[in-house]
Amino acid sequence: MSGDDHRRPYVLLSAAVSLDGYLDDASPDRLLLSNPADFDRVDAVRADSDAILVGAQTLRSDNPRLLVTDPDRRARRIAAGKPEYPVKVTVSARGDLDPALRVWHHGGDKIVYTTGLGASRLGDRLSGLADVVSLGATIDFGTLLDDLGRRGITRLMVEGGGRTHTAFLSAALADELLLAVAPILVGDSSAPRFLHPAAYPGGSGHRMELADVTRVGDIAVLRYLPKGHDAIVGI
Ligand SMILES: NC(=O)c1ccc[n+]([C@@H]2O[C@H](COP(=O)([O-])OP(=O)(O)OC[C@H]3O[C@@H](n4cnc5c(N)ncnc54)[C@H](OP(=O)(O)O)[C@@H]3O)[C@@H](O)[C@H]2O)c1
Repeated sequence: MSGDDHRRPYVLLSAAVSLDGYLDDASPDRLLLSNPADFDRVDAVRADSDAILVGAQTLRSDNPRLLVTDPDRRARRIAAGKPEYPVKVTVSARGDLDPALRVWHHGGDKIVYTTGLGASRLGDRLSGLADVVSLGATIDFGTLLDDLGRRGITRLMVEGGGRTHTAFLSAALADELLLAVAPILVGDSSAPRFLHPAAYPGGSGHRMELADVTRVGDIAVLRYLPKGHDAIVGI
């Protein structure tokens, strides 16, 4: 809770990882770590979220649309008085975002959080496509969450990639982590990792709470509460 009359959203990190901790391989094509049932599980998590956030590199390398695919889930959102699609949020310090990316041209409002320099670099390239918000000299994810809270976002799904997950976890801003572990070995240190070295709160002495383990075919979905029991209050 910040000083303003709003709450920061509940933050759920979602990732699919290989057994050796990678989010992708190093090839230009996206590695599909999940199976169809697990992609459907992720679609349900999206549908339950007010906003979906990804780092700029995920937009640049995967060019995703970030939609809720299942029409019944979209219909249920509308029946509940929500927009058909969650708001789509991205973070870019450098403002290196192509207006041709698919994310801007499919459903849902779009917000880009950037720096002053990033906003200058973007200029009016995303005008009419996304709301560009400058957070100043650097990206502070707490300030970003304050702004999303002011916009009425109560539940934020963070879909990666690794730099972005690292930022949320190292700033102690993640309430929940849904990790889908795929029975795949990538074995290439140039591939994107799920997490990077950082000063994680409590260091290696801190144990997250393992709240649940679910089997989805050949995928194990682990549900962690990074902050421990207090995080449940936000649900
Ligand atoms: N398996 C999965 O679940 C999954 C999900 C999503 C993505 N991926 C994969 O992950 C890879 C991309 O991951 P990534 O770690 O390279 O990139 P990323 O987290 O998607 O994006 C990193 C970019 O976001 C901005 N950013 C993130 N944190 C920041 C911070 N603390 N301060 C300032 N800017 C910040 C910067 O943008 P600028 O460079 O524009 O300044 C940075 O370069 C892709 O290969 C994608 O396929 C996998």
